[in-house]
Amino acid sequence: MQALQLSNFGASNLSLVDIALPEPRDHEVVVRLKAASLNPRDSQIIAGQFTTAVDFPLTPLSDGAGTVIAVGAAVTRFDVGDNVTTLFFPNWYSGEATAGERAVSTGLEVSGSAREAGIFHEDSLALSAPHLSAAEAACYPCAGLTAWSALFDKSSVTEGSWVLIQGTGGVATMGIQLAKAAGAHVIVISSSDDKLKKAEALGADHLINYVTTPEWGARAFELSGHGVDAVLEIGGNATLENSLNAIRHGGHINIIGYMAGIDMGITVFPLIIKNANLHGIGTGNRDSYECLMNFVADHRIRPPIHQRFPLRELQQGLNALDTESPFGKVVIDIPVS
Ligand SMILES: NC(=O)c1ccc[n+]([C@@H]2O[C@H](COP(=O)([O-])OP(=O)(O)OC[C@H]3O[C@@H](n4cnc5c(N)ncnc54)[C@H](OP(=O)(O)O)[C@@H]3O)[C@@H](O)[C@H]2O)c1
Repeated sequence: MQALQLSNFGASNLSLVDIALPEPRDHEVVVRLKAASLNPRDSQIIAGQFTTAVDFPLTPLSDGAGTVIAVGAAVTRFDVGDNVTTLFFPNWYSGEATAGERAVSTGLEVSGSAREAGIFHEDSLALSAPHLSAAEAACYPCAGLTAWSALFDKSSVTEGSWVLIQGTGGVATMGIQLAKAAGAHVIVISSSDDKLKKAEALGADHLINYVTTPEWGARAFELSGHGVDAVLEIGGNATLENSLNAIRHGGHINIIGYMAGIDMGITVFPLIIKNANLHGIGTGNRDSYECLMNFVADHRIRPPIHQRFPLRELQQGLNALDTESPFGKVVIDIPVS
């Protein structure tokens, strides 16, 4: 068995090493990992831009999918042969994380998915939706759950809701699919007309190019008639003002990303005038993830995959994520040979 480990910051410090797999203890399971997916956080961790608090060597990547190949004597959640994914926060099971449940995240404080197999506590995994391949299942632990938490846990999106989604990356494309499956009207903004066409093929109802229509917030307000019910806010600094123009009274803006700046200098007035709700979103908990997997199974949803790379080419995969502005997810196929 091999793992790709980071010995210091910088993707050139990734190398394959042999790993041993001990016998699982009572509540542990052994998972043969088959695929991982990449998120901007993985790239930032590897580059040393996310935190300096990294305990090297680090096995990176939060999101992985595979099959259970052995279980400890007291395991009740899984059987050998089950297809599972990692959880972004392996200790956060339900409700708000008021007791430090978010202190540990996969691929940073504990080993991530860039390895052929691993031992996990049974509580730190979830079953994959049965129709998904490993590559598809690996897309959900971070980006999929983030879109789910924002749309349904925080914004109560339902049939007939209006949802504004920024961009066409991992979180956005899964947000489009989930919102459409729930019966919502979906407005997507992107810098690329080509990617807007692909978003339409995924189900988006209204398309706005945010470069050629810089006042896209007002346009979204107009399209929805009364303002949108929910925004997946991916941009941050450069997008929040437009999001506030788009939102309805009492609507929900879900702060997810910082693709266009981290410092959101806004005045309080638009929030007060619109009775708007701002939600910080930090992926989500296991209960929500299990609801997400059931919903994805019920609606036979398959996430869009931009490109796949073998594990030994993780560096090229990270480059694709950082420079190609993918439509959907970048996936890593794990078996090394
Ligand atoms: N809070 C959380 O729990 C959480 C979880 C996952 C990700 N994130 C964050 O969310 C962001 C997106 O993650 P991702 O995985 O979806 O990344 P991704 O796949 O790399 O997608 C990035 C997207 O950002 C869009 N974008 C960039 N600048 C924009 C702007 N000015 N206005 C509107 N859209 C803009 C791009 O849209 P076009 O190319 O279509 O123009 C692109 O589709 C990142 O900042 C990431 O760190 C947060």
